[in-house]
Amino acid sequence: MRHRERIEALIAAMTIEEKAGQLNLLADPFRWLPMAVNPLDGTGDPARVTTLIREGKVGSLFNGIGAKAGREIQRVAVEESRLKIPLLFAADVVHGLSTIFPVPLAEAAAFDVELAYRTARAAAVETAASAVHQTYAPMVDVARDQRWGRNVEGGGEDVLLNNLLATARVRGFQGDKGLDDRDAVLATAKHMAGYSAAIGGVDYNTTDMSEQTLRGVFLPPFKASVDAGSLSIMSAFNDVNGIPASGNRRLLTDILRGEWGFEGFVVSDYTSEQELIAHGFAEDGRDAARLAFQAGVDVSMVSGLYMEHLPGLVQSGEVSMARLDEAVRRVLTVKAALGLFDDPYRGTDERREKAVVGSREHIALSREAGRKSIVLLKNDGDLLPLKKSGQRIALIGPFADDVDNVWGPWTIWGAPERRVSLETGFRAAMADPALLTIARGSDVETPLAGGIEAAVAAAQGADIVVLAIGESARMSGEAQSRTEIVVPAPQQALAEAIAATGKPVVVLLRNGRALALSGAVRNAPALVVSWFLGEQMGHAVADVLFGDHGPTGRLPVSFPHRSGQQPYSYDRKTTGRPADPALETQEYVSRYRETPNTALYAFGYGLTYGQATYGEVEMASAELPWAGHLEVAITVTNTGARTAEELVQLYIHDRVASLTQPGRLLKDFKRVSLRPGESKRVAFTLHPSQLGFIGADERYRVEPGLFDVWLAPHAQGGSTATFRLVGPPSVSDGR
Ligand code: BGC
Repeated sequence: MRHRERIEALIAAMTIEEKAGQLNLLADPFRWLPMAVNPLDGTGDPARVTTLIREGKVGSLFNGIGAKAGREIQRVAVEESRLKIPLLFAADVVHGLSTIFPVPLAEAAAFDVELAYRTARAAAVETAASAVHQTYAPMVDVARDQRWGRNVEGGGEDVLLNNLLATARVRGFQGDKGLDDRDAVLATAKHMAGYSAAIGGVDYNTTDMSEQTLRGVFLPPFKASVDAGSLSIMSAFNDVNGIPASGNRRLLTDILRGEWGFEGFVVSDYTSEQELIAHGFAEDGRDAARLAFQAGVDVSMVSGLYMEHLPGLVQSGEVSMARLDEAVRRVLTVKAALGLFDDPYRGTDERREKAVVGSREHIALSREAGRKSIVLLKNDGDLLPLKKSGQRIALIGPFADDVDNVWGPWTIWGAPERRVSLETGFRAAMADPALLTIARGSDVETPLAGGIEAAVAAAQGADIVVLAIGESARMSGEAQSRTEIVVPAPQQALAEAIAATGKPVVVLLRNGRALALSGAVRNAPALVVSWFLGEQMGHAVADVLFGDHGPTGRLPVSFPHRSGQQPYSYDRKTTGRPADPALETQEYVSRYRETPNTALYAFGYGLTYGQATYGEVEMASAELPWAGHLEVAITVTNTGARTAEELVQLYIHDRVASLTQPGRLLKDFKRVSLRPGESKRVAFTLHPSQLGFIGADERYRVEPGLFDVWLAPHAQGGSTATFRLVGPPSVSDGR
């Protein structure tokens, strides 16, 4: 590579302190001031950090944005430091920088990898133009327990969907023209690994899992990210089977580099290397720095431990100079790939920043992504779409006129003035906005004095109620674990009171996770999941509710009957005593007293304003040859009166295997648009390589035998058939 000699010359010229400095990542105190100044070392204080940059003791800064100030900070590094090595600027651009897109979980509901690519691309364009070179995204932790608050940042509960979204998002952030392209930002797949497997869904908690689960569920999206070119990986807070992820050599070196060939750098999560002490894995800061560094964490976020201890650790011989050089080389190589040695001031053109940040094109994309993320769960009596005229609508609930909860978590630099409330969206869509009445009825987690009475009065004066209830933005995200994944009690009370009026009710859920619905919410004739759709939320919701665009989203997470079913995902194993979900009660089978262990609304579920009807599964043969493929097809007919955008999903079940297998596993999906009365044949091609699993030998293997296949509208329905994979008794493909 072009810069190799330069990088080697720099490494040869660097002092040990300067080397440690390249591995030191601090919060940006110039453009972002989230925390107090650290009294011990003065970080957080702009003057102190300027001195550190000058001394070559900082390699990267994070969560500051802005072209003008970025230029000034970079100037200190490239003009006033001895070796003039440019700084790397990073930021948590999770679902948009200024233009806020739907939260990643919402976008997963679109089941549209192209859309994920486009929003990541748009976010990258804004980020790169704001003097930021790296984003701490995508989060690729697979959602297995809805109590865990950070599912909102990821791609839902299914492994295949996560793999596809991880790939799309990494490519979207990094672009197709090389990292030195003006519009590219370095992606950082996080948090490796097992972070979402926190026991009980409590954030930061311990994880304990089999090798099959680690390699079969939690690692694949990281592998997909590496394959897609992600040159940075963030290590996780949690421990995995007793070894903290940020001190886990097997994960961060043996698997990531040895097996997958990763060539970028690993960054710790916020002080996660320091937390090896609290984990009871390291004795003190020095020990923590040594363990994390030797495990493969190249860059230390915020703690300052590398700066403080690596020089001494190298001098004492506990850490080799070769390991230090290796980590520095990785960081410098990524800086070179980003073009920072050619143009350290990339992204500091204020005119360009102004032109692309919050551009009309990006705002339109946010609205498009918003409406494609909406999931219709129920529409009894065709309450939806709403009528634009001649219908008195009461928009009730804490989110009726709210703008504080449209973005969702992880938004630092959005433009507050662009947030569109439901009320604004409804008014813009209605021919006669005077027919809209608004009543909050309740606050999100506390009752509102007189709220229910006013809301009931509003409902009584209307023809239809849209009840906008659910979680606030603060209720999901980091450290927002919940014991009960329910609509908060004051809002549930509001829903009961509104239902008692007898008016038709459309429940419009706002949520950052799957919810367990009950009472009047569960029983409402119409139910819509609207997550946090980003800045254009009001318009996106109105687009769908008033029928300008039909709903097309599908649940990327199962909505259980009860909170107590967590952890829950559709791809559970059958057990030796599978329950019959059709039976109300059944003894001595795998279920709860109160409910079958199925979903109320399954993974993949979502209605349209049309009605897709599935035919029988068609297969050319009932055998899939070992070296061949099998076409599996179905005819889907729209028997409804409006267009149906159907997402046909292909699931399989390996009937007999050397390790027990999920009852169903998603292998493919295709979208098809059907006019009323129209039929289309939807065909998939299955290859043997899609049918494997991680075996007892920890390697991917495909075993011949009988398989069930479903072509289905969701994980609990569809048409099914059986085929046999014919081949050698047991084969590993060496993965
Ligand atoms: C989060 C990361 C994030 C980092 C930097 C941590 O608390 O876990 O996802 O990238 O902070 O803001």
